[in-house]
Amino acid sequence: MPEAPSARPEYLDYSYDMFLSSIDGEQSEAIRFSDWIDKVEADGRYPFEAARLGAQRPATRVRRTDGTEVELLNFSSYNYLGYGVHPEVIEAAKQALDQYGLGACSSPVQAGTLDLHSQLERNLLDFVGLPGRGVSLFSSGYAVNTGTISAVMKRRHHIVLDKSVHMSILEGAQLSRAKIHYFEHNDPESLRTILEELAPSGRRILVCTEGVFSADGDFGALGEIVPLAKSYGAQVLVDEAHSFGVAGPNGRGVAEAQGVLDQVDYLVITFSKALGGVGGALITTHELARYVNWYARCRMFSCAMDPAVTAGVARAVELLGSSDGDARRKRVLANAAQLRESLSDVDIGPSKSWIVPVIYGPEDRTILLADYLMRRGHEGSVMEFPAVPVGQARIRLFVTSEHTPSQIQRCAAAMHDAAEHFGFVTTDRREEPSQ
Ligand SMILES: Cc1ncc(COP(=O)(O)O)c(C=O)c1O
Repeated sequence: MPEAPSARPEYLDYSYDMFLSSIDGEQSEAIRFSDWIDKVEADGRYPFEAARLGAQRPATRVRRTDGTEVELLNFSSYNYLGYGVHPEVIEAAKQALDQYGLGACSSPVQAGTLDLHSQLERNLLDFVGLPGRGVSLFSSGYAVNTGTISAVMKRRHHIVLDKSVHMSILEGAQLSRAKIHYFEHNDPESLRTILEELAPSGRRILVCTEGVFSADGDFGALGEIVPLAKSYGAQVLVDEAHSFGVAGPNGRGVAEAQGVLDQVDYLVITFSKALGGVGGALITTHELARYVNWYARCRMFSCAMDPAVTAGVARAVELLGSSDGDARRKRVLANAAQLRESLSDVDIGPSKSWIVPVIYGPEDRTILLADYLMRRGHEGSVMEFPAVPVGQARIRLFVTSEHTPSQIQRCAAAMHDAAEHFGFVTTDRREEPSQ
């Protein structure tokens, strides 16, 4: 007798690392991976890579890869302060497009530096308010980390990473060929033990951490970690990708909130999060910024930021420093607090920020869960191993200043419904460190 078909599709038993590589010349890993996508698509459940049909607003429409279109309540794009759709930002970008054309058409060190780039640099320096600093602009936030770290650190140096830092920091460290060490996440004592051992060598040491960690939405313990690193003669890189513009009394980031902004040697910011654009910047001493401009290979050998985005981001930075920025910061903090509060009976880990992960656990729920939510008009950014530890797969919800209280309520209701349906309701909350 033929076997009854199993109700559970075999494509659920995948993991990202299954496809990483194989040794044959046929590149069978790529073929197997592509087959896996075909199978999920054939079942009408592929939830990834759905094309946006409009701007990244709280309500949006997407076309899934099978051609079906869905209206979505969008909690899965950054645009934390809504500047990606601000009329003045869009107008500045349009004007730049008319005046400067589509692209910068050269490396920034050669013919690619536009007047607009200098304007953006000035706006950033005015906004962060640190005298004697310089700026190095990059075409992505990712490139700020890989370019900067590999430019300033070399084989004989030491890099000490928080265990949870972003891939771009790790990749920058690997590119530099310096010796890499890890301290326990947000744990000054673990960092101290490592620095104690490394400092006597007199070699250059770089400690890297973040303002808001993007998988858990917790704040870096910068108030302790930065002075500790400095006391051992180490330099410090703080990636404020998710916190620049949002955290701190003036929006300068978590380092500002915790009173250590002026001690940070390399302040990394991206334009893709609170500013709703693309690109990034390093803020450091005037001398180091000049050095990185020339020695960060992904900057030197790559085209400068395009005119439209540069002008839009420059305008957004001006707005960040005005009462408009204050009002948006207030709204995003209130919205995030409302969402975290509404999700108090599911596991949101140690989140205290505008990144709120709903941790559902096993990776094999991801496809069905994401598909389930999408069919009901909801989407969060799903994240699973190897981006987070095995068994801690999650839906990351990004809250913005533009969400309304009723949209936040609907999102929380959808998470509760999914939690019931997939059986991951829990009141077993982890300990929350304070900012
Ligand atoms: C901590 C951190 N740094 C850097 C980046 C890269 O930024 P971008 O996407 O702007 O290149 C990200 C992206 O999400 C991030 O989370």
